[in-house]
Amino acid sequence: MKISVIGAGYVGLTTAACLAQIGHQVFCSESDNDKLEKLKNGIMPIFEPQLEAIMNDARSKGQLVFGGTEEGIAWGKAIFICVGTPPLPNGDADLSAIEGVARAIAKRASGYRLIVEKSTVPVQTGAQLRKHLGIHQSNALEYDVASNPEFLREGSAVGDFLHPDRIVVGVESERAANLLREIYAPVTEQSFECPIHKDCSNRKRPRLLVTDTNSAELIKHASNSFLAMKISFINMVANLCEVVGADVTQVAEGMGLDPRIGGSFLNPGIGFGGFCFPKDVQAFIRIAQKSGCDFSLLKEVEKINQERIGHFMQRLREELWVVRGKKIAVLGLAFKPNTDDVRFAPSIPLINALIGEGAAVSAYDPEAMEKAKADLPDIKYCADPYTACEGADAILLVTEWEEFRQMDWSRVKSTVEQPLVLDGRNLLKAEAMSQLGFRYVSVGRPSVSPGRDAALSVVASKKEVSVLR
Ligand SMILES: NC(=O)c1ccc[n+]([C@@H]2O[C@H](COP(=O)([O-])OP(=O)(O)OC[C@H]3O[C@@H](n4cnc5c(N)ncnc54)[C@H](O)[C@@H]3O)[C@@H](O)[C@H]2O)c1
Repeated sequence: MKISVIGAGYVGLTTAACLAQIGHQVFCSESDNDKLEKLKNGIMPIFEPQLEAIMNDARSKGQLVFGGTEEGIAWGKAIFICVGTPPLPNGDADLSAIEGVARAIAKRASGYRLIVEKSTVPVQTGAQLRKHLGIHQSNALEYDVASNPEFLREGSAVGDFLHPDRIVVGVESERAANLLREIYAPVTEQSFECPIHKDCSNRKRPRLLVTDTNSAELIKHASNSFLAMKISFINMVANLCEVVGADVTQVAEGMGLDPRIGGSFLNPGIGFGGFCFPKDVQAFIRIAQKSGCDFSLLKEVEKINQERIGHFMQRLREELWVVRGKKIAVLGLAFKPNTDDVRFAPSIPLINALIGEGAAVSAYDPEAMEKAKADLPDIKYCADPYTACEGADAILLVTEWEEFRQMDWSRVKSTVEQPLVLDGRNLLKAEAMSQLGFRYVSVGRPSVSPGRDAALSVVASKKEVSVLR
C-alpha cells in the first residue's frame, strides 16, 4: 500500500522504515530542513539500534522516500501522523503540529484517505481531527480518522515495531479497520522478512485489538501512566529500604514473582524521563482534570518522580559533606540506554543541581553528548568514561549503558580523587565495587565501604548474580 508518514522523529522514522520493510511503499515527510537533507543523503539524525540499516536498505530498494509535508500528503492512501506532542507549560499536550498537519491534509488531499494518529494525543483528539478536517476540506476529500497509538521503546524501537505485544487500532468505520488490518497483516502474521532475527518462526503473533477511537487514545495514556506509577511505587519502596536496611532488589524480585504484579518496571532509580512518561503523565492528569475527574494518584506519581533528583543529591551531600568545588563525573546523559535522546532526561536537572551547588562536572555518554550540549553547555564532555572519571571526587552513574557495567573499574579507582560511586540505576555489583576499594552507594540497597565484607550486608540479588545483569 502507498503510505505516508508525517514527521521523521524517533517514532516516524521507525514507522516509515518498518512499514517499508514489511512491503509497503512509504513516503516519509519531515518539516525540519536540516533533518530532511540528512535523511535524503542517508545520514541518520538520531541514534536508534538497527534503524539505519533497514532505512538504507528500504531506500536502496525504492521502498522508502523522504521529502516535504505537501508531497507526503499527496502520496499515501493512509497517512500516519507522527509529529511531536510536547507539553505546554500547564501540562496539556501541545497539539499545534497535529492541527497543522490536519489542516494541510484537508486543503491538499483529494479522494479517499485514512488519517492515522500515531502521535500520543489526548482522548477525543480523533473527534477533533474529524471535525476540523470537515471544516477545512476541499478537493472532494473523503476520509476516515483512526487512532493507532505507538508503544515502541527507544533503544529497541525496530524490534518493538516488528514484534509488538499488541497493535491497537481505534476506528469508527469498518473500512478503516480493514485498511489497518491490511497494513499490519505482515506483522500480525509475522510473515515479513525479519531484519534483526535469524528465525522468527516460533514468535507469538501479536493481537490486533480494534476499539473505538476514544478508547484507543485512552489506552496509550493509561498504559504509560500505569508504567510510570510502577516506577514511582518502587522508588518509594527503595526510599523505605534505605531507611530500614532492606534491599529493594530482593523486595522487587519477591513482588514480581506474583503474576498479578509482574517483575518489569520494578527497577528503582533516579526517576523516569524521556519524551513519553513525564509528558504523558502530565497530559493524563490534565485530561482527567478537564473531564471533572481528580486523578490525584497520578499527581503523586509525578511528585515522587520529581523528588528523585533531590533525594540523589542528598545522598551525594551525605557522602561528600561539601559539594562546592568538587569534581563530579557523570556517566550517562541519555534518559535510558541505547538512545541518544536527552529530552526530559534526569541527567539534566541532576547536572544543573550539581552546577548550582558549585561542582565541576565532567560527563560521558556513548551516544547522547551531541544532543546534551544544547541543554548542558557548561560541562566538560569527555571522549571516554575513564577520562571523565579522572580526578573525580564522586562518580554518578545516571544511565545504565552496558559499557559502564563492562568498564575496568580498577583502572578507574587508580585515577580518582576519592573512590566513591553513586549508582543511580543499580547497575553494578555492590560486593565487587567494595572489593575494588570503592565506597558504593546505590538506590534502595545497603551502601558498602571498601574492604568490608559486602556479602554480609548485600545479599546476592537478581541483578547481583554477576557484574552483568
Ligand atoms: N519517542 C518515543 O519513544 C515515543 C514512543 C511512543 C509514542 N511517542 C509519541 O510519538 C510522537 C512523536 O514522538 P517522537 O519522539 O518521534 O518526536 P520527535 O520530536 O522525535 O519527532 C517529531 C518529528 O515531526 C516533525 N514534524 C513536526 N511537524 C511536522 C510537519 N508538519 N510535517 C513533517 N514533519 C513534522 C518534527 O520536525 C520532528 O522531526 C509524540 O506524540 C510522542 O509522544 C513517542
